[in-house]
Amino acid sequence: MMKKIQIAIDGPAGAGKSTIAKIVAEALNFTYIDTGAMYRAVTYKGINENIQLHDAEALEKMLRTTTITLKPSEQGQLVFVDGENVSEAIRSNEVTSNVSQVAAHANIREILVAMQQQLAANGGVVMDGRDIATHVLKEAELKIFMSATVEERAHRRYLDNVRRGITSTIESLQEEIALRDKLDSEREASPLIQAEDALFLDTTNLSIDEAAQAILKLAHEKTL
Ligand code: DC
Repeated sequence: MMKKIQIAIDGPAGAGKSTIAKIVAEALNFTYIDTGAMYRAVTYKGINENIQLHDAEALEKMLRTTTITLKPSEQGQLVFVDGENVSEAIRSNEVTSNVSQVAAHANIREILVAMQQQLAANGGVVMDGRDIATHVLKEAELKIFMSATVEERAHRRYLDNVRRGITSTIESLQEEIALRDKLDSEREASPLIQAEDALFLDTTNLSIDEAAQAILKLAHEKTL
């Protein structure tokens, strides 16, 4: 039985984190935790409740009475907001283009980070996000910073969208990804940055399986 370590995977949008993290978690029989989904859930509810997303206090007030639940399932992690399954809804273009603004609020991050730390407390987790190695799980046994060129990431999002029936152009996706990278890396509160003790994994020319195998090899080395 594999020792129940914590694996932190950070990186920009479209680097392949969630797809690869899911495979790694499954192979190790660990729990996969997609922290981006939590920021998306807050954004989704904020939009529905007509809250100004720049208003950190109003969002915090809303979040204090909101229940966000993550449930592992056959189709991957399901996300519930106040009991409603929002797993699909939080992937809409509207949520995607507004989530960086919500994720920039330090007070919102504080609440979600505490939830994330609680979820990972017993180990046996693969957690993906932007600040997992630098803030959420500073003691994680394995830290990966995953990236790929903007062109490749836009191409992947495009194929993803086609599969999900969402219309988009590669050019607009490239712009959107570049903007989100900029907002996520330049914000003051826990910006996207590679932790000193994280290993860099460039997935530009790797298949999903190759990237997953690379991480699994590192995980096994860590638990020998
Ligand atoms: O990984 P994703 O695209 O679902 O993430 C959505 C947004 O949430 C992303 O633009 C940045 C933010 N995020 C964050 O700030 N910290 C995390 N740990 C995860 C996501």
